[in-house]
Amino acid sequence: MFRNFKLVPKVIFGRGCFAQLDEIVGDQRQSDEDWAVFVVDDVFKGTGFADQIPCNDKDHLLWVNTADEPKTTYVDALTAEVKGQAPTLPCGIIGIGGGSAMDLAKAISLMLTNPGSATAYQGWDLIKNPAVWHAAVPTLSGTGAEVSRTAVLTGPEKKLGLNSDYTVFDQVVLDPKIVTGMTKEQHFYTGMDCYIHCVESLEGTYLNEFSKAYGEKSMDLCRQVFLADDPEAADKLMMASFFGGMSIAYSQVGASHALSYGLSYVLGTHHGVSCCITFDALEAFYPQGVKEFRAMMEKTGVDIPRQVCADVTQDQMNTMITVTLGLDPLWENCLGKDWKSIMTRDKVRALFEKM
Ligand SMILES: NC(=O)c1ccc[n+]([C@@H]2O[C@H](COP(=O)([O-])OP(=O)(O)OC[C@H]3O[C@@H](n4cnc5c(N)ncnc54)[C@H](O)[C@@H]3O)[C@@H](O)[C@H]2O)c1
Ligand SMILES: [Fe+2]
Repeated sequence: MFRNFKLVPKVIFGRGCFAQLDEIVGDQRQSDEDWAVFVVDDVFKGTGFADQIPCNDKDHLLWVNTADEPKTTYVDALTAEVKGQAPTLPCGIIGIGGGSAMDLAKAISLMLTNPGSATAYQGWDLIKNPAVWHAAVPTLSGTGAEVSRTAVLTGPEKKLGLNSDYTVFDQVVLDPKIVTGMTKEQHFYTGMDCYIHCVESLEGTYLNEFSKAYGEKSMDLCRQVFLADDPEAADKLMMASFFGGMSIAYSQVGASHALSYGLSYVLGTHHGVSCCITFDALEAFYPQGVKEFRAMMEKTGVDIPRQVCADVTQDQMNTMITVTLGLDPLWENCLGKDWKSIMTRDKVRALFEKM
C-alpha cells in the first residue's frame, strides 16, 4: 500500500509576507459575523510583534503557554474557551509560534468539530469530521509541524499525535523576518530537529526518491545555516524545516526520535533538545551524521544537557525503554524488519545510560 499523502494546499513565503495575513484570513470571512481565533505563543505578549497580529474586534486572541509541550487536557480547556466565545464556530484558527503553538492550533481546530476529549483521538485516522479552517505562522524553524499531518500531544497514557488528513494546515505563512528573538540554544535545538529528521530519513530503510529529494535539499540548507555564517540563514532554515517535514512524511524518522519520545515522556524534556541528547549517543547508528552534528554544535557554541538519566529510578528507566521500543515503524526504518532481534531492552538501557 502506498501512502496517499495530503499536502498543505496554500503556502505564502517571503520576508514581510506576514502583512498579508489579514487578507488571507479575510477570505475566510463570509459575513460580518464571522470571527477568527489567533492561537499565539504567550512569549510574544506585550511585544511589537503582537501589535501586528490582524486581530479584529470580533476575533479572539488566545494566548497559549508552551512551557510544557502540549497536553490533551490543555487542548480540551482551550477548545472549551473558544466554544465559550460565541454560539457559532469561528471561521478560522491561526496558530502563531513554534511547533507547540502550531500543534495547539491544529488540535483546537480539530476538537471544535469532533466531540469529546482530544485523548480519544490520539492515534492514526481517528478524527471523523473535518476541522475548522486552520493556518500556521511559524516563529521557529525546524520541527516541520507546519507541513505534517499530526498534532503531537501528551495524554494521560501516551505521547502520540492526532494523525489525520484533517490535521494538515489549510494555509501556511512563511515569513523569515519574524523568526527572530529566540535564544541561540532554542534556535539550535529546533534547527537540529530538522537536521536529525534528514539524517534519519536519508539513512532509513524506508527511503525513496520522494523523501530523498526533499531530505537532501533540507540537509544542504541545514549545513549552510549551521556550518557557515549565512546572511540568509533564517530564510534557509525555514525552507529546510518545510522540506525536512516533507521528507519524513513519505519515509519516517528513526532511532533518535524513538529514544527522544521515551526521554520526553518520563523527563518532560522538550522535543528539540531531547532529539539532540539522544542523537549525540547514536554514533554507532549514524556515524557521519553525529560527527557533523557535533561540528555544528561546536560552531554554534551551544552544548546539550549531559548525564540526564543519572537520577532516574528503575521504574522510570523501564517506562522510558517501553515507550521507546513501542515505536515499531521508527525502529524498522532505522534497522530493518529484524530490528527486534537487534534492539533489545538492554541495548536501549545502555544508550540511555550514555546520555
Ligand atoms: N506536529 C509535528 O509534526 C511536530 C514535529 C516535531 C515537533 N513537534 C512538537 O513541536 C514542539 C517543539 O516545537 P519547537 O521546537 O518549535 O519549540 P516550541 O514551540 O516548544 O517553543 C520553544 C520555546 O521557544 C519560544 N519561542 C517560539 N518562537 C519564538 C521566537 N520567535 N522568539 C522567542 N521565543 C520563541 C516558545 O515560547 C518556547 O518557550 C513539541 O511540542 C513537539 O512535540 C511537532
Ligand atoms: Fe522531530
